[in-house]
Amino acid sequence: MKRIIFIAIAALGFVVVATVGRYYLMGGHDGEAGSARTVSIGGPFELTDNTGKVVTDKDYRGKYMLVYFGYTYCPDVCPTSLSIISQALDQLTPEQLDKVLPIFITVDPERDTVEAMADFVPNFHDKLIGLTGTIEQTKAVARAYKAYYAKVDEDDPDGNYLMDHSSFTYLMGPDGKYVAHFSHGTTPEVMAKRLAEIL
Ligand code: NI
Repeated sequence: MKRIIFIAIAALGFVVVATVGRYYLMGGHDGEAGSARTVSIGGPFELTDNTGKVVTDKDYRGKYMLVYFGYTYCPDVCPTSLSIISQALDQLTPEQLDKVLPIFITVDPERDTVEAMADFVPNFHDKLIGLTGTIEQTKAVARAYKAYYAKVDEDDPDGNYLMDHSSFTYLMGPDGKYVAHFSHGTTPEVMAKRLAEIL
């Protein structure tokens, strides 16, 4: 029993440290700018979109990018987040909506092929762009955005696995630079209000 309690406390401690660490990494509250001063978020990437076209971050210059990292096999977190993004976008005016591109970047490129992304993204929003890449390209873009991911359940005999991943939505400016971020669980109303202020 003592051992179990010890493990529980150790696990809790890890979560607290990880959460606080992440909070400081991001450096602020939802929708607030400011963390860019201490930690740079974002940067160049080269990936393939859901139409099979090779794209880089520069292709999206001139528009705000609303970037979310996840994977199509995600049982709950990603569908929830993407549906929140979609609902937030639907609350914008057509002029505001025209300025922003929602972008879903997979952290599971082994399963999330161009075809898988093409099937997946229209479930959420007409404008949603799905990006996949090689393992190296995925690592590079996740590193640039300080997005965390890891494969879990790798021992499953059927080859099924889940991806553990951070769940932030990043708003990048028309110049490609960080503007704001939204934590997991931000409501569509809060996200829409903040986007409307910025866009
Ligand atoms: Ni997910």
